[in-house]
Amino acid sequence: MIKNIKILQDKLKIDFSNNTEESFLNIWLRDHAKDDDSWDSRSNQRKIFTAKLDPKLYIKKAEIKDHGNSIDILWSDLNKSINYSSEFFTENLTKSKKKQNNLKIWASNDLDENIYTNFNDVITEDGYKSFLKKLYEYGFVVIQNCKTEMSSVEKIAKKIGYVRESIFGGLWSFESNEDKADSAYTQEELRPHTDSTYSNDAPGLQLLLCCNYKATGGESIMVDGFKIAEKIKNEKKEIYDLLTKVEVTGQYIGDGVFLEAKRPILKLNSDQQLTQVSFNNYDRAPFVMSEDKTKKFYHAIREFDLIANNKKYQWRRVLRPGDLLIFNNWRILHGRGSFSGDRKMSGCYINKEDFDSSCRIHKII
Ligand SMILES: [Fe+2]
Repeated sequence: MIKNIKILQDKLKIDFSNNTEESFLNIWLRDHAKDDDSWDSRSNQRKIFTAKLDPKLYIKKAEIKDHGNSIDILWSDLNKSINYSSEFFTENLTKSKKKQNNLKIWASNDLDENIYTNFNDVITEDGYKSFLKKLYEYGFVVIQNCKTEMSSVEKIAKKIGYVRESIFGGLWSFESNEDKADSAYTQEELRPHTDSTYSNDAPGLQLLLCCNYKATGGESIMVDGFKIAEKIKNEKKEIYDLLTKVEVTGQYIGDGVFLEAKRPILKLNSDQQLTQVSFNNYDRAPFVMSEDKTKKFYHAIREFDLIANNKKYQWRRVLRPGDLLIFNNWRILHGRGSFSGDRKMSGCYINKEDFDSSCRIHKII
């Protein structure tokens, strides 16, 4: 709610009822006007030719409306006032005043039954929202009681966004049994990693449905990459800095493709916030740096990978037929314990931007 406003030379100062204040520049406010000439409300696109706005434009008059819920502003280049809602202002506060994300960064002891949900709940509207919130907060969820067929994967994927095509196809299945010799069907432990470090836009979500399990071992492993980052940042800042800076190259060679991409293991945005964890020791390509940097790099990945492989930071559970594991591949490292017997999984990828989109639509972010 807006308590008071003051017109200054090149900006409008607003006092909010929670006793915070913020100033908004005239040029920025004018650029965000929502009148019919400035904004296409049907397509939610800007119409205004921003470059042609008078840099010296000013506010002729400003008035609080609707008991503090909006402000009418009369601009020097318009004849009619433009209404700006109080939400518009609060949604656009400077970074330090914005609400913080509410991720639940975890080690294995921090998790409980909360990360489980039920297929029949997820496909309802309320159930979907609470599932999505958990997925956003913890980075992974197990959906139980799914039919052990591909259609379950597709149904969940389509609730969130759409199935991503990749070198593995859209919806895929893989089976491990003792008769197959190819390393792709390995039954050794798969250490925690993120997928597609060789892709410029790694998949945001991965879905894995257990369709058959007649085996011993083979538990799924989840590790919170943000927790590893937090621990290293608190305890060994120089290693953290290195992991945020050295671009590691990942590659996929085979099946008629040669994919390559590079980014730091811990990717930060311009506000120095962690946005993506990428770590796959299997897919790391050769890349060279100075001797000194190389020694530091090996020291840093030793630190990172030993935490990822420490059971204190791992959630490890055997997925039973009908369990669908879904996780954020930009945050959670996944792996699988060694096993013997038969195991069949189906799954798919979803783009990160489509996961984010669904979170925005459901007001989770
Ligand atoms: Fe993987």
